Amino acid sequence: MADEILLRKMEYIAEQSRSWDELLRKTVELLYLNNERYHWVGIYLLEDDTLVLHNYMGKPTEHTRIPVGKGVCGTAVQQRENQLIGDVTKLENYLACSPETKSEIVVLIKDDERILGQIDIDSDQRDAFGPDDESFLNQIAGIIAAKSRQLLPSRSKNHA
Ligand code: SME
Repeated sequence: MADEILLRKMEYIAEQSRSWDELLRKTVELLYLNNERYHWVGIYLLEDDTLVLHNYMGKPTEHTRIPVGKGVCGTAVQQRENQLIGDVTKLENYLACSPETKSEIVVLIKDDERILGQIDIDSDQRDAFGPDDESFLNQIAGIIAAKSRQLLPSRSKNHA
């Protein structure tokens, strides 16, 4: 499905979601079911210095808690930058989710400068992700971050 249509669907999901949990689960479902290159889709949330897997679709993973700095996911937080890995077999700092995975993209969910978490996607194809995926997922992450202000009202300023 075209990215523009998916973004409109995502806006609708954000509008309709009554809880943070619902928003994150529906986001994963939307991404997983509408892109055949996306073989594993998950959202990790940052809790202190650990990424905690909130929900995912695809094969089960043992990496449900990832320290900042570890793997592609932890590196994204440490460097405060999205990660696009064309060939995960060439990486040293990589946590294998499934032996079939060949490439990975991690896009941070940021509210202003605060990192809330990340969207992590694996593909069984090499070089499956490019700038178009990053730009699309940045917009998805932006919608999640904007909605977090309403769904996570308890987030206090001293967490900033
Ligand atoms: N590959 C990730 C770990 C998460 S799994 O892909 C689900 C990493 O290296 O951080």
